Parts: sequence; C-alpha cells; structure tokens
Amino acid sequence: MAEIFLDRVTKRFGRVEALRELTLRVREGELLVLLGPSGCGKSTALRIVAGLEAPTSGGVWIGGRRVDGVEPGDRDLAFVFQTYALYPHKTVAENLAFPLRVRKVSREEEEARVREVAALLGIGELLGRRPRELSGGQRQRVALGRAIVRRPRAFLMDEPLSNLDARLRVEMRSEIRRLQQRLGTTTVYVTHDQVEAMTLGDRVAVLRQGRLQQVGTPRQVYELPANRFVAGFVGSPPMNLLRIHVERTGDGAVLHVGDQALPWPAGCGVGPPPPGPLELGFRPHSARLGSGPGLGPLRARVEEREYLGGAVLLHLDAGGQRITVERPPEAREQPGEGVLLYLSPRELVGFDVATGERVWPAG
Ligand SMILES: Nc1ncnc2c1ncn2[C@@H]1O[C@H](COP(=O)(O)OP(=O)(O)OP(=O)(O)O)[C@@H](O)[C@H]1O
Ligand SMILES: [Mg+2]
Repeated sequence: MAEIFLDRVTKRFGRVEALRELTLRVREGELLVLLGPSGCGKSTALRIVAGLEAPTSGGVWIGGRRVDGVEPGDRDLAFVFQTYALYPHKTVAENLAFPLRVRKVSREEEEARVREVAALLGIGELLGRRPRELSGGQRQRVALGRAIVRRPRAFLMDEPLSNLDARLRVEMRSEIRRLQQRLGTTTVYVTHDQVEAMTLGDRVAVLRQGRLQQVGTPRQVYELPANRFVAGFVGSPPMNLLRIHVERTGDGAVLHVGDQALPWPAGCGVGPPPPGPLELGFRPHSARLGSGPGLGPLRARVEEREYLGGAVLLHLDAGGQRITVERPPEAREQPGEGVLLYLSPRELVGFDVATGERVWPAG
C-alpha cells in the first residue's frame, strides 16, 4: 500500500500536449477514479505512474519515494488493462501463478496464494481451464487475480471492464469495489464512464484535454461541479444550464430569465447569487412542477416526453432555453402543455458566463 503523488506532470508527444501540469495525490488505500472523455490523457497519466512513459516535466512519487527513472518492474505496481492479456497456452492456475514464478516465491506459498485469490474471485472451479475456455467476465476475473496475487503496493486499472457487456460490467464493478475495500490497496482506476466513476470511486478526478478540472468525492463533483464542463460530464441527463441575469434589490434579488422575473425566495436559508449575468445550473431531478416552495414560478412548455420506466424525462422550452426535468413515472404532462417550475435554492449552482467556472456558491 502506498500513496501516489503526481507533481505538476506535463507530457508532450511532439505537438500534442497529453497532460498539462497535472498535480494529483492518491491517498494510501483509496480508490481514485480518473474520469474524462476520450483523448483527455487518462491512460497517459496511468502509464506515467507505471513507468511505461516518462513525463516531459514534473515528478512522480510512490510511497514517498521519487520514482522517475525507476523501471516499471521495480515500482511494485500491478497494471490491469482493457484487454486481459492472459497467456493462452497456460491454465488459469498457471496464469495466476505466473507473477509469483517470476519473483521466485516458494511452491507452497505460490499454491496457497493462488488458492486464496481464486477463492476471493470465485474462480476456484476454473483453475484447470485455459483462457479460450472462459467467458469474458471469467477472463477479466483471472486478469484481476493475476494483479492481486502479487500483493502490489498499488493497482492501476485502465478501463478494465470496457470489453464486457453491460450486465457483466455492473457485476464486475461491484466486485472490484468489494475487492479493493477488502484488500485496502491504493488503486487508480481509469474510465470515461461517469456512472462507473461515481459508483466506484472514493474520489473522482475529472480530466479534460490534459488538465485537471476537479478532484472530489462523487458527491462533491456531482453537487458542486467546479465548472461547466464537469457539470455537463457528470450526471445523466446532464445538469441544466439557464442563462440568467441577477438583479440585486435591497436585501433580496430578482433573477431574470428571458422576460420572466423570479424573486429570490426570502428566508430560504441561502443567499442569492451575485449580481450580473450568470449561468444557473440545476439537476433535472431538483425541479418541482406545479407549486413551490422554491425559486419560481418559471414558465416553460413541454417539447418532448421520454419514458424511462423508473422516471419520465420532460424536455422543456423555458423562454427559448432548453432544459430537462425528471418526473415520476406516473407524471401526466404532455408535449405542448405549459408547466410551472420551482427550483430548490440549495440545489442551484452558478457559473461565470465567460469562463464557465463555478462562482456560486463558494467553496
Ligand atoms: N504514444 C503516443 N504518441 C503520440 N500521441 C499520443 C501517444 N499516446 C497518447 N497520445 C495522445 O495523447 C492524448 C492523450 O491520450 P490518452 O491515451 O492518454 O487518452 P485517454 O484519455 O486514455 O483516451 P481514451 O479514453 O480514448 O483511452 C491523445 O491526444 C493521444 O492521441
Ligand atoms: Mg485510454
């Protein structure tokens, strides 16, 4: 187990800047998810920690020791890739034992550890099979087992579930979570899937174009996104963004949305946003329809209705701006209908119109 620290890591491939001044601390024993769209630098960051790539500038520390120049094999980390890379001609038991063979562990210990890991992953029955005789999920389990059996200081996982079908992915996701908690091994897990990030991570680090956008618990990232990009990337459907203009009036405020003027609810326990133009963010599930309390009424018209089984999504036009609200499955609103929205002041965030940074609430 070890803390991993990246200090202002920049990586360039010719003209491409894959990482720009990435500073990130992965705490001992935590599972940190690196989340971001394709090409944002996730794999590059992981490969730099593993020692498979050298940073252009900046440094990497593992367990308090600077590892620049330390060979990948001497970093005592286990890498799990998207493709399982099992030895096709070896049995599951031999595949699991391989990392121990290389390290000259005694035969008795080798057998004990292989049995232990197989039991942990529920693949005890499969030890005699070869990879081609396994399903995708079973193969990925063996690949995980091979990482675990060595008892490395940290796991580095690069989209390990992306080759599995949706159901298996969900199953393996909770399995990885359970394993990681049980072993308490520091883990960096790369994905572009925000649901995977939210469900797996103790903390989530969001990357965009090689730059760190925000690090926080899934809840922090969801409720208080650092900027418009994070607000749009985390959560599905994404956070609504409404262009507004805030006018201060005495000790209160009026929020102008197009030609509608919404008084800031007095005594709601939250101060109004700062005056001037603002992009007001709120989650689709945090709007109430019909009656307050809250900030409202915001008049809107239903444009589209999507039935999702457990919920209904209404896509609305609010004075020329498109927003989405989530409703219970029994909701009746139909396209063409006018609705009144009330927003919960505690669930609002404000972004700077020009920079996209969150400016309200602070913190
Ligand atoms: N060896 C390389 N040579 C040149 N460019 C590279 C190399 N490796 C990565 N890049 C570039 O660096 C950027 C970051 O790549 P990286 O593989 O880290 O992205 P990623 O976030 O893992 O994406 P994905 O989700 O698609 O796997 C991309 O623009 C990519 O094209
Ligand atoms: Mg990648």
